[in-house]
Amino acid sequence: RSSVCIHLASSLFKMAPDMIQIYLKHASNPLEATICLAEMIEPCAPMLIGMHKVAGVWHMKIKAIVFDAYGTLFEVYSIQVLAEEFYPGQGADIALKWRDKQIEYTRLITQSDPHQASGSQYFRPFWELTRLSLEYTLDRLHLERESGQIEKLIRQYAHLTPFPENLAVLQKIKGMGLTTAILSNGSVDMLASAVKSAGMEDVLDHVISVDPIRLFKTSPESYGLVQQTMRVNKDEVLFVSSNAWDALGDTWFGFTTHWVNRQGLPYEALTPRPHFSGSDLNSVLSSLEHWNSTKV
Ligand code: LAC
Repeated sequence: RSSVCIHLASSLFKMAPDMIQIYLKHASNPLEATICLAEMIEPCAPMLIGMHKVAGVWHMKIKAIVFDAYGTLFEVYSIQVLAEEFYPGQGADIALKWRDKQIEYTRLITQSDPHQASGSQYFRPFWELTRLSLEYTLDRLHLERESGQIEKLIRQYAHLTPFPENLAVLQKIKGMGLTTAILSNGSVDMLASAVKSAGMEDVLDHVISVDPIRLFKTSPESYGLVQQTMRVNKDEVLFVSSNAWDALGDTWFGFTTHWVNRQGLPYEALTPRPHFSGSDLNSVLSSLEHWNSTKV
């Protein structure tokens, strides 16, 4: 038992076994002292090796923060301003219906052919789905499809307004030495121009698109891209999304999740709830603080 305890103590403290022996030499009964030492530190073992208890579950210390793009970092509904200009009185409805249809198409494509190694045979890049869903929305609202206006609305998607607090929050996160990334349904080019126009190139280490796997979120393959690209374990990731459906998908997948509930929506009726939530991106900083200060 003594040698087991010495091994335990040494691996927990990341000390050489002979250093533990030096400590024990000064105890009156080395065997009892060793056992006592091991028993004392055993409950704290997870913390000593960098684990934290978050919402009742043990996690490794966080290494990476991954953000959803549209709606989380980039303001999707800012499109409604332009839509309102082209179609007075209809801007809000167009933006909402357009977004819903765009996401519906991603789900339809993914669910209808989820098992091929090469992804869904129905896959079309998000850029294309964005155009098709806009055309559908205008038809649905009996609005005239004017090609110049459609082009301008779609182009606006590449230059979305970022939420005002986002850049400062990302800078603070980078300052903490964490790795940052986007994981998005967005096409590679579409994401690159949105990141550039938001001035976020220097604060994002990775911009991950689902394009290569031809399956959209919430497929496990899409979330798996985070581990593959960033070389992290699931429990080292905090996933941040303003889309409740995405936050739920992430939680089911096994990430620790933070829901940025910008619109004050109720929690999804499906459980579990995200581990953290808040009304804007600043709340992510509070989640990190909570995570890192959580004691056994
Ligand atoms: C994304 C969308 C779905 O960025 O918000 O993946």
